[in-house]
Amino acid sequence: MPLSPAPAYGQSMLPPGTFEGKVIAITGGGTGLGKAMGLEFARLGGKIAILSRGEEHRAKGIAAITGEGGTAAGFAIDVRDGDAVAQCFNAIEAELGPVDVLINNAAGNFGCPAEDLSVNAWRTVVDIVLNGTFNCSREFARRRMKAGEGGAILNIGASYSWTGGAGASPSASAKAGVTNMSRSLAVEWATSDIRVNTLVPGTFPHDDTSEALRTHLTGNRAAKSCPAMRVGQTHELGWAATYLCSPYAAYVTGLTFVIDGGRWLRTSLSQSEFVPVREQLGAGPFVG
Ligand code: COA
Repeated sequence: MPLSPAPAYGQSMLPPGTFEGKVIAITGGGTGLGKAMGLEFARLGGKIAILSRGEEHRAKGIAAITGEGGTAAGFAIDVRDGDAVAQCFNAIEAELGPVDVLINNAAGNFGCPAEDLSVNAWRTVVDIVLNGTFNCSREFARRRMKAGEGGAILNIGASYSWTGGAGASPSASAKAGVTNMSRSLAVEWATSDIRVNTLVPGTFPHDDTSEALRTHLTGNRAAKSCPAMRVGQTHELGWAATYLCSPYAAYVTGLTFVIDGGRWLRTSLSQSEFVPVREQLGAGPFVG
């Protein structure tokens, strides 16, 4: 018998209005898991600031949230650019008010054998994932400290922080940095009433997953490779995110919260045959 299914979308774990009047800024919040988390915050009364490079992505997120009666606005950002981050926070304050909760969800990733990566390819992913998370966190914390207000930061991590991520080494390395940074900042900023936690999602198929990846994620194999014998539903991730940023988690900081049905802990006496990364990615021979 597999793990029980979760309650259906539309139910709430937290009391209605938990985030009433609060501003929740979500980087990469226009699509995918960022959008799904935004929906849960909006259902609890939060005003959602969708931070994204692309106008099209921002519009998607706004449509999803306002379509369910929530409040959302889009703001342009490139998390790699510290000045742009500051300007973005100014714009949010002018339109929605000061940010109470920051979700560092924006990421960049692609599968590529390490020896094929250009220096710029490595730098780009690390810059988005690790430096971008720091840039936004610092901006958020400085403003909260200046205002004498607390707040919550939620960073999106990955279980390959611990296992390594062959074929996605820049992202895996950067996510390991994010997990570690969360712990450092949790201690540094506790005295300013700012909590910092990390949420590690397992397999959560969503509408914005590319066609090729969706087949892989929703197929029988994805469910059967997980001890839970199913993939995750995005609203389950939203529940975890809202809890960790809510007053009900007031004593929780520096935590790395894994929500993956036990997937990353799975080990087996009879491992499946090892397939080299170049072969897994369908890459030809290294040409230098
Ligand atoms: N394989 C190898 N190198 C790649 C690559 C790939 N699939 N995609 C990008 N790069 C390299 C580029 O060639 C470039 O290096 P170069 O200047 O030496 O040629 C460098 O990475 C930067 O790429 P660029 O597209 O100019 O950067 P960007 O800032 O516009 O976008 C990403 C960076 C990571 C966001 C972009 O590659 C992307 O859209 N990825 C897929 C979407 C995604 O990451 N979603 C998040 C999932 S977690």
